[in-house]
Amino acid sequence: MAAHEPLRILPGIGIEILDQTLLPGEERVVRICTLGALCEAISALRVRGAPLLGLAAACGMAIAAETTDAGDDALREACAAIDKTRPTAVDLGDAARAALARALAAQGAQPRRELLWADAVDYLARRVAEDRALAAHGRSFIPHGSAALTHCNTGALATAGIGTALGVLTTAWDAGVLSHCYVTETRPLLQGARLTTWELARAGVPTTLLPDTAVASLLASGRVGVAVTGADRIAANGDTANKVGTYGIALAAARHGVPFVIAAPTSTVDISTASGAAIPVEFRANDEVGGFGAHRWAPDGLDAYNPAFDVTPADLITAIVTERGVARPPFAGALAALKAAPSAGR
Ligand code: MRU
Repeated sequence: MAAHEPLRILPGIGIEILDQTLLPGEERVVRICTLGALCEAISALRVRGAPLLGLAAACGMAIAAETTDAGDDALREACAAIDKTRPTAVDLGDAARAALARALAAQGAQPRRELLWADAVDYLARRVAEDRALAAHGRSFIPHGSAALTHCNTGALATAGIGTALGVLTTAWDAGVLSHCYVTETRPLLQGARLTTWELARAGVPTTLLPDTAVASLLASGRVGVAVTGADRIAANGDTANKVGTYGIALAAARHGVPFVIAAPTSTVDISTASGAAIPVEFRANDEVGGFGAHRWAPDGLDAYNPAFDVTPADLITAIVTERGVARPPFAGALAALKAAPSAGR
C-alpha cells in the first residue's frame, strides 16, 4: 500500500486503511475484514473525511455481504450500523443506502458480494475523477500569487483522490498560482496540524500552521487572499456543515473582505435537507477536549462542549465549488441544477 493511500480495496477480502489517528508519527496500515472493525475505524476517525467515509461505507456493505449470507436482513442491518457511526457527513449514509438498494434490486446471477465489491471499486474511481474535476473548477478562486487559509484535512487522506479544498490548493500551487498555505491546527483532533501539514509538505507547498484561535487575526492581517474549506453536508439553501471552526473562519473572512469558498463534491449536497437547522451535528466525547490521546491537561471528569462540526450560514459563503461546476449565491437554484447535471466524465 502506497504511503499516502488512505484506503485500498481488497475485493473478496476486505480493505486496508492507513490509520489516520497515528499520523504523522506512524504510518500503520490496518486490514479490516469485519463490519464491526469497519464501524470502529469510522467512529474512531482511523478513516475520516466526508468523501472517504462514503467510500468506507460502500466497502462496509461489501464486507457485510462477504461475511454473512448477504440476505436482505443482514444487509439492512449492516446499512443501519454503518449509518449510525457518524451522523453529519451525508456521503456516509447515502453510500450505504445506495449499496443496499443496489443489492436488493439486483436480479442477475452475479452474487451480491461480487456486485457490492465492484460498486465499491467504481465508487473509488468516481472519487478520483471528481476530485480532479473539482480542482479544475476551483483554481480560478485563488488570486494569482496569493496565500490561502484552509481548515481541517481535505486532502487525499480525506477522499482517496487528490482531495477537495486541498486538491484545489495543491493544483493551484502546481500551476504557480498559490504562493503559500496557512493551516489551522483544528482542535481537538488536530487534523490540520497532523494531516494537512503532512500532505502539504509532501506536495512541496510552503505552509504555516496556526492555532485555531489565531484565525481572526490572520485574516485581519491581510496576508490571506482566500479561505477554502471542505464540507460534510451542504443543505439545499447552501448552509454548510464542516469541521467545527469553519463558521468562525467564514465570519472573520466576511468581516475582512476575504472570499470564503467551499469545495465539495455534489454527493455532499443534500437537497433533502432544507437548511442548516436540519443538519445533524455530531457531538463527541468530553475527553477529546481535555487532552490529546494519553496526554491530559485538564482535570479528569471535566465537562466539555465538543461538537465535531458547525454550520456556516449560506450568506457567508462566496461560492461552492463542485466537480460539476460552481454554485454562487443564491445557492438554492444553483445547487439543485448542479445536483441534476450529468456527472463529470472519467
Ligand atoms: O471529523 P473529520 O476529520 O471526518 O472531519 C472532516 C472535515 O470536516 C472535512 O473538512 C470534510 O469532511 C471534508 S473532507 C474532503
